[in-house]
Amino acid sequence: MDQSIAITSGSTAAIQTASWHDLTPIRELERLCFPQDAWPWLDMLGVLTLPSMVSLKAVEGDKITGFVAADIKRRRRFAWIATICVHPKNRGQGIGTALLNNCEDKLTVPRVRLSVRASNSTAIKLYSHSGYVQTDIWKRYYRGGEDAVVMEKNIN
Ligand SMILES: CC(C)(COP(=O)(O)OP(=O)(O)OC[C@H]1O[C@@H](n2cnc3c(N)ncnc32)[C@H](O)[C@@H]1OP(=O)(O)O)[C@@H](O)C(=O)NCCC(=O)NCCS
Repeated sequence: MDQSIAITSGSTAAIQTASWHDLTPIRELERLCFPQDAWPWLDMLGVLTLPSMVSLKAVEGDKITGFVAADIKRRRRFAWIATICVHPKNRGQGIGTALLNNCEDKLTVPRVRLSVRASNSTAIKLYSHSGYVQTDIWKRYYRGGEDAVVMEKNIN
């Protein structure tokens, strides 16, 4: 496991590499954070085990309070943020920003992309403040017919 990285803001969380050992608590967190879009068991196992994935967890005591995963598309020279979430009780303390920043630091490609529900203003604010800009809209991309906002950031 990587060394813990302490978050310098109001939170006492540490950022660590996630593994398949974390599958159950991370699935619980995902289901809580994404009532409509939580990943199936097998997909999440892939996120936590495939070599192209960078998966980080925020840990406070023995509790996982946040999670981020990115898929490195090396041949296409970008990475895709597959998911990012923070437990509702731990939001607004900088954990989401710290997860995103630490994840970007581990990506060995020039650009990062992601998609987000158009109504998810909190996440869009997080991404905008972290330097992501909107590059596209995918009409009716999400379950329920909501549009996706596609965002991108140059990192290397
Ligand atoms: C999006 C999410 C990961 C942010 O996590 P977080 O730990 O609260 O994020 P941070 O504390 O680092 O805050 C990031 C920015 O969002 C803002 N923010 C956080 N909570 C907010 C809230 N409830 N309402 C409005 N803005 C909020 C903060 O003000 C901060 O902006 P700043 O740079 O001006 O301070 C979290 O809200 C979450 O898990 N949401 C549900 C899952 C989700 O939508 N994921 C994104 C899918 S694309």
